[in-house]
Amino acid sequence: MSFIKDGKNIISHLDTYYNESVQKEKKVIKQLTIDALHEKLNLSLHLENGDLTAEKLDAFVKTYLDNTTRLHHPGYFAHQVGVPHSTGALGSFIDGFTNNAMAIYEMGPAAAAIEFFMINYLLKKIEWEPMPTDIKKRLTFDHGAGVLTHGGSIANLTALLTARNHMDNSIREEGNSSDLAILVPDTSHYSVAKAAGIIGIGENNVIRLETDANGRVIISKISNAFQTAVNKGKRIVTLVANACSTGTGLYDPIDEIADICKEKGVWFHVDGAHGGAALFSDKYKPYLKGILKADSMIIDAHKMLRTPTICAALLVKNAATLDHTFEHTASYLFHDKKQPGFDFIGQAIECTKAGLGLKFYMTVAAIGEKGIEAYIDHTFDLTRQAYEYIRTQPDFDVPVTPESNILCFRFNASDAVQIMIRDYLIEKGDFYISSTELNEKRYLRIVIINPETKMNDIKALIASIRNAAAN
Ligand SMILES: Cc1ncc(COP(=O)(O)O)c(C=O)c1O
Repeated sequence: MSFIKDGKNIISHLDTYYNESVQKEKKVIKQLTIDALHEKLNLSLHLENGDLTAEKLDAFVKTYLDNTTRLHHPGYFAHQVGVPHSTGALGSFIDGFTNNAMAIYEMGPAAAAIEFFMINYLLKKIEWEPMPTDIKKRLTFDHGAGVLTHGGSIANLTALLTARNHMDNSIREEGNSSDLAILVPDTSHYSVAKAAGIIGIGENNVIRLETDANGRVIISKISNAFQTAVNKGKRIVTLVANACSTGTGLYDPIDEIADICKEKGVWFHVDGAHGGAALFSDKYKPYLKGILKADSMIIDAHKMLRTPTICAALLVKNAATLDHTFEHTASYLFHDKKQPGFDFIGQAIECTKAGLGLKFYMTVAAIGEKGIEAYIDHTFDLTRQAYEYIRTQPDFDVPVTPESNILCFRFNASDAVQIMIRDYLIEKGDFYISSTELNEKRYLRIVIINPETKMNDIKALIASIRNAAAN
């Protein structure tokens, strides 16, 4: 059977790929044009011949890998996409092959049981009550719930839907009235405003929470946003806070915000897509102080939990709110049946859902909880060291003391030069960084997410930036 031979070859290529990346023998990024790649990969020919196996597959995979962006390269600093663990990647492979669309239990009992386990695992980290495995006991006492989604954007969308339907259960059937609003810092991820647009709250009804110079919510100004909502005659669906923000990686003061939301009777959602992973670190979880007072939270396992894309978790404190969010009927799925498990389909936007929990579980179980904690501590600690180093360089400005593993800085030159520096680095291919705007100025931005990245890589990056600016 060619499957085993092809599989072994592919794993061997991936192993080479990994080593070349970690050893920096290949560029972290290399971008050919679409046409060049179509040709190099022989896309049309393979389609015509149906011959993608053995040597042809081998050549194809090698060319493919040669044209990837190498997240395992220590010069990878660009986006908040995790550097996947090999065991987690095997989880993706098993899931792809078995194709157990586990939103209904009978279509993937192991996958569904693992998702259930991982949701409970995260609920316990927040100190919310886990779901009973005996489904008959569901909602017979106060407990949390959750679902793994295909990404943080969908997790945020699901959270907003849950909050909206919790506030007004008639909307699901009757449609939105025009008096809904959400309160969100300007520094929130764009998926939150997008979700408001998708679910009919309207992007213009996203009322901004005032933030300080670094983009963190100012507690004393929150009442202004509530007042704006009152003045506009709006009902507030939810207040959303960052843990942490995408641009600067700072945490909003969760504890204080939670108290205000409680007092006002407003749903409190925490976007922990990136920084929710601090729950795994004794050293850094104080940034999430008060999280157990929130109503919902999301965490992307494919960001800081080393899990291959894509796997996000939406978690709610009160299971009933999620259970009542989607009460659609699909009689072929939702009929009385004898089954030992739980159908996640009632909690999800998706109908067909991949076994996302498998790669998540396999990653965490392979690294171990202590290993994940050490990884988070390493990346957060190194970001602090990078901050201390860069801020002492006379030709650099570092505006924000980091709290997570995201760091913004600027070479002392114009906005245009920052963009030019990034383009130059990408062209050269030794480093891949991103850039962001902060207080109307353009900054270079790094996310120290690769477990192999060391202080020497940061120093080399700074030297390359100087070089870029000089060219
Ligand atoms: C804070 C935050 N929330 C949500 C998202 C969206 O997550 P995803 O890319 O998984 O849809 C991101 C992505 O970077 C993010 O940083």
